[in-house]
Amino acid sequence: MRVSTCAVILLAAGAMAARPFLDEPDTGITDVLVDLPKGQLPDLDDMVALNDFQYAARNYLPAANYTYYRSGAGGEWSYRNNLEVYNRYRFKPRTVVDITSISNSMNTTVLGYNISSPLFISPCARAGYGHPDAELNIVRGAAANNVIYVVSGFSTLPLKQISAAADPGQILFSQIYFGNNDTYNTEQIRLAEAAGAKAIVWAVDSPGSPSRQRSARYGVGSANTVFLSNSWDRYHSLQAQTKLPLVLKGIMTAADARTAIRQGVKAIILSNHGGRNLDGSPSSLEVALEIYQTDPSVFKQTEVLADGGIRYGTDALRLLSLGVKAVGVGRPVMFSNVFGEEGVTKALSIIKNEIMNDAANLGVANIKKIDASYVQWTPNNWYS
Ligand SMILES: Cc1cc2nc3c(=O)[nH]c(=O)nc-3n(C[C@H](O)[C@H](O)[C@H](O)COP(=O)(O)O)c2cc1C
Ligand SMILES: *[C@@H]1O[C@H](CO)[C@@H](O)[C@H](O)[C@H]1NC(C)=O
Ligand SMILES: *[C@@H]1O[C@H](CO)[C@@H](O)[C@H](O)[C@H]1NC(C)=O
Ligand SMILES: *[C@@H]1O[C@H](CO)[C@@H](O)[C@H](O)[C@H]1NC(C)=O
Ligand SMILES: *[C@@H]1O[C@H](CO)[C@@H](O)[C@H](O)[C@H]1NC(C)=O
Repeated sequence: MRVSTCAVILLAAGAMAARPFLDEPDTGITDVLVDLPKGQLPDLDDMVALNDFQYAARNYLPAANYTYYRSGAGGEWSYRNNLEVYNRYRFKPRTVVDITSISNSMNTTVLGYNISSPLFISPCARAGYGHPDAELNIVRGAAANNVIYVVSGFSTLPLKQISAAADPGQILFSQIYFGNNDTYNTEQIRLAEAAGAKAIVWAVDSPGSPSRQRSARYGVGSANTVFLSNSWDRYHSLQAQTKLPLVLKGIMTAADARTAIRQGVKAIILSNHGGRNLDGSPSSLEVALEIYQTDPSVFKQTEVLADGGIRYGTDALRLLSLGVKAVGVGRPVMFSNVFGEEGVTKALSIIKNEIMNDAANLGVANIKKIDASYVQWTPNNWYS
């Protein structure tokens, strides 16, 4: 009797200790912007972190616009997991290390293209929900920071208008939702080539229609109603039509990563679409860890990129430590676009700087040499 009472109390204490989900952890933005009227933008100078842009966009945009960006699928378990997963794994910082060369080590390549930082902009549809200049702000922000912009196939503006605003030599990839219609698929490839895209990104994670409940309430849910007959034959038939490398976005298991390598895929993006498609799908960190633990040679045999829930430099470092070559940011860029080009430029420079300075504080002298030993891969129970 005593024992069971005790057990009940322990269970209750455990339940009370459960930590509520924090979409935007409180770092004081509300204290500073306490009188900001709804529908008004704060000063860009007040934005000091990626999550501040989410706060600003929520306060400023019509609810439907904001919700389109914010939404996840189903109960948003994967959306939340994407944000929380990183801090289940603590760092193992090295001290007494000379890290003064860290800034020189930040540049890297993706598919042979030089970029300033292991960072890219993930393809997100409909930048027009955030700003009238839509994707033009994003392409310019990417140029200012010398990072790759993967342009969504469902952009507000046509790809050729976006690429016309690019700097000479700027690297754009074109994301395409290939369908079951071969004529349409070929047309899309030609448009990407004509716009000067350096790679085509095939989003393979959405062959059906997701249940995006939050956005459906505002009439801005998914419009995809066709079931896709994707196959490796389709991959080869698409790849045979272009010299551009076909990158697969939305790989969620080590087994699929290995299959992609066998089929000759030059780069893959680990992604669960920001938790917007299959609720319960793993975060890219969990997939990268599965690959690392079962077959780390995958990271050498193809270029592995990843996105989902990256809001801090420390999130990016955990992915890079496993062998991921560059990381993508989605929603924060869309939220920063409410400030226009300057907002996107600032958001990208914030995350770039964080990656560099967090690496320095982790005791990483050369970011290209970060490895899994910088992280404790036994998850802590902070988030249970
Ligand atoms: C508003 C929105 C639109 C998106 N549209 C696309 C798209 O058109 N094509 C695509 O491949 N992925 C799309 N994604 C997924 C992103 O490319 C990326 O995987 C995801 O946003 C990364 O997670 P994060 O938003 O937490 O950074 C979209 C995501 C959001 C939030
Ligand atoms: C990074 O920049 C340095 C200096 O310009 C250059 O020597 C090096 O090749 C670059 N590395 C990559 C991976 O692009
Ligand atoms: C990348 O930079 C290196 C030197 O840093 C240069 O040799 C190489 O040509 C560049 N590659 C491209 C594709 O611009
Ligand atoms: C909200 O989205 C609509 C539809 O794209 C757009 O016309 C409108 O300008 C957006 N509102 C803002 C404040 O960007
Ligand atoms: C296939 O795509 C082409 C080109 O976009 C279009 O003209 C045609 O109507 C489509 N066919 C079907 C069956 O939808």
